Amino acid sequence: MDLNELNATARALVAPGKGILAADESGGTIKKRFDSIDVESTEENRRDYREMLFTAKGAGDFISGVILYDETIRQNAHDGTRLVKLLEDEGIIPGIKVDTGAMPLAFADGETLTEGLDGLRGRLAEYRELGARFAKWRATYSITDDLPSDYCIEVNAQALARYAALCQEAGIVPIVEPEVLMEGTHTIERSFVVTEAAQHALFHELYEQRCVYEGLLLKPNMVLPGYECTQQASDEEIAKATVRCFRSTVPAAVPGVVFLSGGQSDEQATARLDAMNKLGPHPWELSFSYGRALQAPALKAWRGSAENVDAGRDAYLHRAKLNSAARYGKYTPDMEKAAS
Ligand code: 13P
Repeated sequence: MDLNELNATARALVAPGKGILAADESGGTIKKRFDSIDVESTEENRRDYREMLFTAKGAGDFISGVILYDETIRQNAHDGTRLVKLLEDEGIIPGIKVDTGAMPLAFADGETLTEGLDGLRGRLAEYRELGARFAKWRATYSITDDLPSDYCIEVNAQALARYAALCQEAGIVPIVEPEVLMEGTHTIERSFVVTEAAQHALFHELYEQRCVYEGLLLKPNMVLPGYECTQQASDEEIAKATVRCFRSTVPAAVPGVVFLSGGQSDEQATARLDAMNKLGPHPWELSFSYGRALQAPALKAWRGSAENVDAGRDAYLHRAKLNSAARYGKYTPDMEKAAS
C-alpha cells in the first residue's frame, strides 16, 4: 500500500470546488431511470447516455471523479475510444462500484447486508488495470420504530471495513457509504441517532481492520427527517444537525465527506450542501457524490435522442457548476435560473 498515493487521490477527489458524479447505476436502477423518460435500457442506450455525460467539455472544472458500473468501465464510445479515457482526458478520475447489492439479512426482517466480498481482491486488481483509482460500497439501513438493529449496523460495518482494507491494499481509495434511508415517518432527531450509531460502528471497524483514515472518503446521508415525517426541517436545521453529528463520528484525518443525494430534489441537495459549507471551516472537506441530484435534469433533457445531446450536457454542467458553488458556500437560489 502506498499511503501517499491513496491520500493524494482522496484529496484530489475533494479538491476545492469539485465533487463526484455517481453514474454507477446497476442494471435494474438504470432501467428505472430510463423508464421515467420512455427509453429502452439497451447496452447501446446506456453507452450513449453515459458518453453524453463524459464528453461534457469543462465538466472537469467541477467534477473530480465519476463512479462507474462494471459494464461502463469496459465500454467504448462511438468512435472506439474507451469511456474511461474520455474521463481521463477531462482530468476526471475514474472510480468503480464494487458491491454486488444489498441482500436480505438472515434472521433480521426488513434489514439488509451488502454483499460482494467474495473474489473482491481479484476484481480490484482488474479494475485498477482498467483505470479505476477509487471504489464505492453502499450499505443501507432502514429506520422504523425498532430498526435498524445493532446486528445490522455491526455486520454492515464489518463488510464495509473488509472492502475498504482490500481497496487500500490494492492502491484504490475506498469510499465507504453507510446510507441511512429517508423513507419513513421518523424525525430528524431519530435520523441523527441512527446516523451517529452507523458511523460510530463503521469507524470503529475501519480502525480494527487497519484501514488508514487518510486514504478513504465517507459517503453518508445528510441528517434529515423521513419523507413522511410531519415535521420537516429547514436547510439550516439540516446543515447544523449533520455537521454536529459528524463532528462526533468522523475523524479529522479523513480528507473528505461526499454526500449522497438519496432522493432529495436536485435543488435541495445543492442548497443543503451550501448551508453546511457556510457553517465552515470544518475538519474535513464537505462535498458531493450525487447520482440523481446531478443527473435528473440531464436525463430529462436528453430523452434518448441524439438531437438532445447538447441540451443534456448543458443541464448536467449547470448542476455541476451549482454544486461547485455550494462547495464554497457561495450558492444562491437565483443561480438556478441563470443560463449554464
Ligand atoms: P444518489 O445521489 O442518487 O442517492 O446516488 C448516489 C449513490 O451513489 C448511491 O449509492
